[in-house]
Amino acid sequence: MNMTDLIEKKRDGGVLDREAIRFMIEGYTKGDIPDYQMSAMCMAIYFQGMTLEETYELTMAMVDSGDRVDLSGIKGLKADKHSTGGVGDKTSLVLCPMLAACGVKLAKLSGRGLGHTGGTLDKLESFPGFSSDMTEEEFIRSVNENGFAIAGQTAELCPADKKLYALRDVTATVGSRPLIVSSILSKKLAAGADIIVLDVKTGSGAFMRTEEDAFALARDLTAVGRMAGKKVVAVVTDMDEPLGNAVGNALEVKEALAALRGEYAGDLMELCLTLGSQILIGGGLAPDEPSARGMLEQTIASGAALERFAAFIRAQGGDDRGVYDPSLLPCAPARREALAPAGGYVARIEAEGVGLVSMRLGGGRVTKDSEIDLSVGVVLHKKVGDPVQPGESLGTVYARTEAEARAGAEQLARCYTLTPEKTERPPFIKGVVT
Ligand code: URA
Repeated sequence: MNMTDLIEKKRDGGVLDREAIRFMIEGYTKGDIPDYQMSAMCMAIYFQGMTLEETYELTMAMVDSGDRVDLSGIKGLKADKHSTGGVGDKTSLVLCPMLAACGVKLAKLSGRGLGHTGGTLDKLESFPGFSSDMTEEEFIRSVNENGFAIAGQTAELCPADKKLYALRDVTATVGSRPLIVSSILSKKLAAGADIIVLDVKTGSGAFMRTEEDAFALARDLTAVGRMAGKKVVAVVTDMDEPLGNAVGNALEVKEALAALRGEYAGDLMELCLTLGSQILIGGGLAPDEPSARGMLEQTIASGAALERFAAFIRAQGGDDRGVYDPSLLPCAPARREALAPAGGYVARIEAEGVGLVSMRLGGGRVTKDSEIDLSVGVVLHKKVGDPVQPGESLGTVYARTEAEARAGAEQLARCYTLTPEKTERPPFIKGVVT
């Protein structure tokens, strides 16, 4: 078999069989197939697409390119959650302890932020001493004891995806559906859970800009998951404005803590209740959505979810005093309000733009190795549909210096579109694909 023939076949709209896909992924992972041939293949896939069978074979070849996490030592329902990436997405910090308090086990592997989107591991490092670096044995023990643990993804898990994703990033082929499906699912399947809930974002801050594309992705993710013998549920949600109000590492942790204390009732909590319900129902722990929501809400009302979160921070070496007193978490020295230039209603908030404001303040990485400042970012006071008076604050910018705060406030104000008439907020949850 040779790669040139396979590229030609895909370029002309042909279907690759299991043997061809395995040859290609094994060869690329080992370094026998060069980047330039794999780039051509990614572009051919981008234009010609793949059948569901091809996508399944690609996914499984990527799973088999590395190790699988062995979760057999964990008792009970093993669930996992993944989001396709968004601005202000701190869902895992709230949802994992809620589900753990309902008896679900989550052995979660997370990443760091790159560009305008944040990473769960960076956010958690707001607690001094917190570490995501642990042996598999410590990881499993922690899940059994606390209900959940969050570790960094090792190089041995899906090495094919690691190499391929970096290549796609620089060859304009990230946005190909079969390549996204295989990239997301290979990592989730290798991580070993029985039930996987996926948050597929759509809108200006997401990979999938249109709802149609997001639903097509959601359908393929669930179908390929089923072919692999796993229960995969995909929830399509809006990312036309940031999720919640805070964007920036420690600021997002503070918002997540407010949600765990029951002091937050916006889109973030709605998302946690929706995703969490799908896991409880799919895993047989709740008969229907009202009971599932009731169970999840009870973990907040009783304080059980907040306790689980504190236990998790302690188990991973962190100082948990910040869980009960968020003023101990990193806090930026300079602040500035972004003021509304006119009155009216918020019609649009450019999610990607808000993410970039936080990144330029030092809260995100420009390159993989950049140092980040956990304390900086923005807190939005107005979301889509809210009324605004002239000169009223749209959001607060938290920065390292007065000059950076001023620049950030100007940039944040430009992310807002205000109109004289009220814009109805589109539904936040667009649909659930099971
Ligand atoms: N997230 C991933 O892990 N992979 C993709 O291709 C897109 C989003």
